[in-house]
Amino acid sequence: MVVTGHTCDVWWATLSDVRPEHTALLNPIEHGRRERYVRAADRDRFTLGVAMTRLALGPLVGLPPAEVPLTRSCRDCGEPHGPPAIAGGPHVSVSHSGDRVAVALSAYGPVGIDVEECSRQLDRAIERLVLAPAEAAATDAPAGGDSGIFTYWTRKEALIKATGDGLRAPMTEITVSPPDEPPRLLAWSGRDDLVGRITMYSLDPGPGYAACLALIDQPDAEVREHTAAELLH
Ligand SMILES: CC(C)(COP(=O)(O)OP(=O)(O)OC[C@H]1O[C@@H](n2cnc3c(N)ncnc32)[C@H](O)[C@@H]1OP(=O)(O)O)[C@@H](O)C(=O)NCCC(=O)NCCS
Repeated sequence: MVVTGHTCDVWWATLSDVRPEHTALLNPIEHGRRERYVRAADRDRFTLGVAMTRLALGPLVGLPPAEVPLTRSCRDCGEPHGPPAIAGGPHVSVSHSGDRVAVALSAYGPVGIDVEECSRQLDRAIERLVLAPAEAAATDAPAGGDSGIFTYWTRKEALIKATGDGLRAPMTEITVSPPDEPPRLLAWSGRDDLVGRITMYSLDPGPGYAACLALIDQPDAEVREHTAAELLH
């Protein structure tokens, strides 16, 4: 079903937003995942993503955030490291990179969000994993240099998160608009039915980051970006 005239909310947090009480929102499986992260920053990114997801969904489903029945089943192995989902409920997507954590929520259909820190040194081999032949052929150095690659990357990762494929879907089979144009899916080898069904939005994660949002069957959505302070504090 195609819906129109609706909103999709995006919340942005930074690592300094994390508080001890956010950990209390995690269920036992989420606690287990949190504890397996070796680095404190990874634990905080994960905790913030879970806390924001639960705090955003709670009022919509009429439950305390800690009781929102989130699942995270991996499509490949069933282990709880897949996309967060709530049966019959709003669609949600989570991304983290560097200092930023983002949660996107749409009540009307699949959503995918991706943020990447652009300031880090890029291994040039990543271009071969990200760019489709047409994109690589268009220019030796994609518009915007490294940040151009991050723009391609976030556009494609938002798409493969909206479909739930994740990295099972090779990014090289997807062609998107170049970084100096608004985001648009141009072609997806074997999946061209998706081309007319996806809308994409550039987001504003702040300096040093690129971010993109993709929605399926939700044209003309109003995308609203918020700081997570209103959820987390
Ligand atoms: C989804 C994926 C592209 C994210 O990559 P990333 O750039 O490292 O990380 P991001 O921070 O942008 O996104 C991670 C979030 O994506 C979500 N996610 C995981 N799998 C997802 C999928 N298939 N579709 C959509 N979202 C997914 C989770 O919410 C995850 O965060 P969390 O674990 O803290 O809740 C990548 O992890 C992936 O492809 N995973 C599936 C493949 C896989 O892990 N297979 C395991 C085989 S058993």
